[in-house]
Amino acid sequence: MSLFRPKFWKIPEITEAERQRLPALAAELEQRLQTVAARFPQAAFASSLAVEDMVITDAICRLKLPLRIITLNTGKLNPETEALIAATEARYQTRLEVFAPDKEAAAAFEREFGVTAMYDSVELRRRCCHIRKIEPLNRALKNAPAWLTGQRRSQSDTRSELNFEELDRSRNIAKFNPIFDWEENDVWAYAEAYGVPLNELYHQGYPSIGCEPCTRPVKEGENIRAGRWWWESKDSKECGLHK
Ligand code: ADX
Ligand code: SF4
Repeated sequence: MSLFRPKFWKIPEITEAERQRLPALAAELEQRLQTVAARFPQAAFASSLAVEDMVITDAICRLKLPLRIITLNTGKLNPETEALIAATEARYQTRLEVFAPDKEAAAAFEREFGVTAMYDSVELRRRCCHIRKIEPLNRALKNAPAWLTGQRRSQSDTRSELNFEELDRSRNIAKFNPIFDWEENDVWAYAEAYGVPLNELYHQGYPSIGCEPCTRPVKEGENIRAGRWWWESKDSKECGLHK
């Protein structure tokens, strides 16, 4: 029997200092969301059900803001992620607007290129993301005056310049990132303090969760997005939702 067992990523332990800075961060988050809701009551928050998005969902629901909460069920989510849709609705007594890919387009792609096409080339992977994420997001945001995401600067180099408010140039609407300046442990401190429902996969070494074929657990010390599209180079690792 091999004695070598890799250690996988674990939900971080929160320090006292992190716990202490949470009330100010939570108050600022509430203020940011109230500002968005006052300007754009029908803005849509895109939730992937990641812990970041559960934090924002928790704040929206606690404050009873009119913002829509939309989620893209790509048809390739892990069962643990799908289960969180119902758990979130039950916990917050609300409905998430779930958008699915066009059935025919998704089936035609798989007929032509196979179910593992995403591993064959970056181009095919992007086409799969287009069918299963981008087109449904476009539908979800069709009449939205603005939208919100759970992206954070420290998630990756490609996100290091994010701001609270941006212009989504392709849609010509405002785009808000209400926790753009939070660190990973701030998110976990909020999740702990408010007891937000969590994806079971966080207990199985997944720090970042996307579709099942394109996400795997990461080892202790690896980048938190290392398990997303792990076979691709660092520069191509975005699905195109946030150009
Ligand atoms: S991705 O570009 O790599 O897939 P990531 O998983 O980090 O994105 O999520 C970043 C933000 O994109 C989320 O906080 C959320 O706002 C949005 N998002 C990503 N996936 C989805 C999804 N399936 N449904 C709704 N929003 C999503
Ligand atoms: Fe397809 Fe993977 Fe993109 Fe999901 S993340 S839409 S399975 S390529």
